[in-house]
Amino acid sequence: MPDFKVKDPNLSPKGQLLTEWASAHMPVLTQIKQRFEKEKPLESVQLGASLHVTKETAVLMDTLKAAGAEIALCGSNPLSTQDEVAAALAERGISVYAWRGQTTKEYYWCVEKVIDYKPFITVDDGADLVGTIHSKRTEVLFDIKGGTEETTTGVVRLRAMARKGALKYPIIAVNDAYTKYLFDNRYGTGQSTLDGILRATSILLAGKNFVIAGYGWCGRGLALRAKGMGANVIVTEMNPTRALEAVMDGFRVMPMEKAAEIGDIFVTVTGNKNVIRKEHLAKMKDGTILANSGHFNVEINIPELESMTAAKRNIRPNLEEHRLQNGKKLYLLGEGRLINLAAAEGHPSEVMDMSFANQALCIEHLVKEPKLEQKVYSVPKEIDELVASLKLKAMKVEIDELTEEQKQYLTSWEAGTI
Ligand SMILES: NC(=O)c1ccc[n+]([C@@H]2O[C@H](COP(=O)([O-])OP(=O)(O)OC[C@H]3O[C@@H](n4cnc5c(N)ncnc54)[C@H](O)[C@@H]3O)[C@@H](O)[C@H]2O)c1
Repeated sequence: MPDFKVKDPNLSPKGQLLTEWASAHMPVLTQIKQRFEKEKPLESVQLGASLHVTKETAVLMDTLKAAGAEIALCGSNPLSTQDEVAAALAERGISVYAWRGQTTKEYYWCVEKVIDYKPFITVDDGADLVGTIHSKRTEVLFDIKGGTEETTTGVVRLRAMARKGALKYPIIAVNDAYTKYLFDNRYGTGQSTLDGILRATSILLAGKNFVIAGYGWCGRGLALRAKGMGANVIVTEMNPTRALEAVMDGFRVMPMEKAAEIGDIFVTVTGNKNVIRKEHLAKMKDGTILANSGHFNVEINIPELESMTAAKRNIRPNLEEHRLQNGKKLYLLGEGRLINLAAAEGHPSEVMDMSFANQALCIEHLVKEPKLEQKVYSVPKEIDELVASLKLKAMKVEIDELTEEQKQYLTSWEAGTI
């Protein structure tokens, strides 16, 4: 057995079943795993991963292990680990350090345990692993060839590091593959955020004023799904193009200050901080529900909410009532952490199939590639297109192929109006 720290190793059989269920819905990753088993492209490669420890992550870990990798894994959020899955991974030979409900100190202890394994490749979601290596554990930098990053917020942080010359090894921005953000951020976050809100509250969405802060890939997906459930969607934005798009998509757009007065449910998905602050909280209606689905728990200013709170109680899991000093009640879901993972199970497996297929293929690419610079790379186009093709094939959807004449037409300039 490897070294590990999980909540309860006896939960493993439940985790095995969950992983099996996820795997059955991840045909692209399954195909990649079959090739990896034969070719062993990651033989003895030490991988250090910080990912949400979910059943889908377990399928990715199995795929990488089948390729020959040796893996140390920690969570990428204190509240997103599925304890059954962590137990199952430990039993399957992964050095996993993760349990649900960690303190910040415990969370970073786990991140550092992974760094202790001196990874050759890092696999990150939110850039806490890369950030810790670059700030506190620079002694391992020498051993690292490269890394991958799963989410928008992580890519934003890494690009900022690269701009300042602080990034010391190459990273592939998996988030920025079409087959990642178009599906994971949009349909994955769209569906699973509602799933989290409903599991935490069991409220009716139809007829509610549903305020979404941020009309990026996650916000668009969430708006689409909330509208489908009958909610009146209101969008808040700071980017004029995105705000215009939301208007043309049929949603009301207004500043948070105005939305605060009429919203019933608020969800932040901006990747920014303090999007909902004291002045907004003060204007909200009695009974308002607050949730976040952005990467970090900084989008709702929780310290300010706490400072306005006279009394708190837990109504049910992931639903905390804040009675303000003026008697009004606000309800915070999942401690303001990403609600789809805190209160539900994260993205559906079918979506993570593509995100993690990109991860597996990018890790293989990093290992094979002779020399890369210390910068943030896009996912190679061939990988992105391969993932899309494999997914279509698995879904039994066929598409057209260009004729020779069409290929020539699309690459020439001579032809014009006939
Ligand atoms: N919950 C999940 O499972 C999940 C999945 C994918 C991404 N994420 C995270 O969700 C966040 C958003 O990701 P994305 O891919 O949609 O990013 P994005 O960059 O496509 O969109 C973010 C949007 O928020 C807007 N914004 C920024 N500050 C704002 C403010 N103060 N008020 C209103 N709007 C503001 C931006 O203009 C942009 O349109 C990131 O933190 C990302 O890491 C979470």
